[in-house]
Amino acid sequence: MSRQSPSNHKPPVKSGERIIFIVTIIFLVLAGAAFGGMEYVRHHSDKPMFSITTDYQFSPEAKRGMQLFFRGGSCTDCHRALNSGTNMGPGTDLDGEGSKRGLTWIYNFLRMPEQTYNGETLDHGPGKAAAFVSDWKAEDLHAIAAFLAALEAKSGSSVSPVPPSEVSPFVDSMVRKFAPESWKTGKFKDMRKDSRVSKKAGASQEKQQ
Ligand code: HEC
Repeated sequence: MSRQSPSNHKPPVKSGERIIFIVTIIFLVLAGAAFGGMEYVRHHSDKPMFSITTDYQFSPEAKRGMQLFFRGGSCTDCHRALNSGTNMGPGTDLDGEGSKRGLTWIYNFLRMPEQTYNGETLDHGPGKAAAFVSDWKAEDLHAIAAFLAALEAKSGSSVSPVPPSEVSPFVDSMVRKFAPESWKTGKFKDMRKDSRVSKKAGASQEKQQ
């Protein structure tokens, strides 16, 4: 074996290797194109990726809050509610907000965002793009909070902290068959039972008042 010109001594590429290489490249190109396409659709679509089922019953105050929320685009520049507004990604879609937060929390957040968040916010803190919100009249902010608190997600929807309430014989049979004993002896609680009894029961456990 001569060591002078190693470049001439590369082993020839076997046809099997070439096929694997070509298939890999095709796969990567297609995966890249599919991902790019999906990201494009996601960023340009004004519809949420998953269906959001919101349940609401507006009081007269909440109705006024809704008008304030949609008026002049000041909130909808960044937020979406009732499936309209801007899709800026997680945290800004307020459909289902009422299942996550209570009225008092939302009201406090609107007045004192960073104290209520217990940390820095992206947009709501002093000097930031949505800092103007906390200057609004207290009664207007309360009305908006009442509106947002009324936007409850149905259990099982993508924004709900409550799992689906439907009774599922399949899930029950799987639990009976495969779940460890500790699951059946009351060590853990079946969340679905709460949501069967009352739609709100599970939500209020996680909800920050
Ligand atoms: C410049 C963009 C912007 C504007 C305008 C804006 N927000 Fe926000 N809002 C955000 C962002 C981003 C968050 C996530 C928290 C953060 O980092 O600021 C948020 C968070 C919230 C939350 C808390 C959500 C949660 O559960 O954590 C509420 C409630 C809210 N906004 C209400 C409003 C209302 C009502 C208005 C109009 C009066 C408004 N926002 C205007 C960007 C904006």
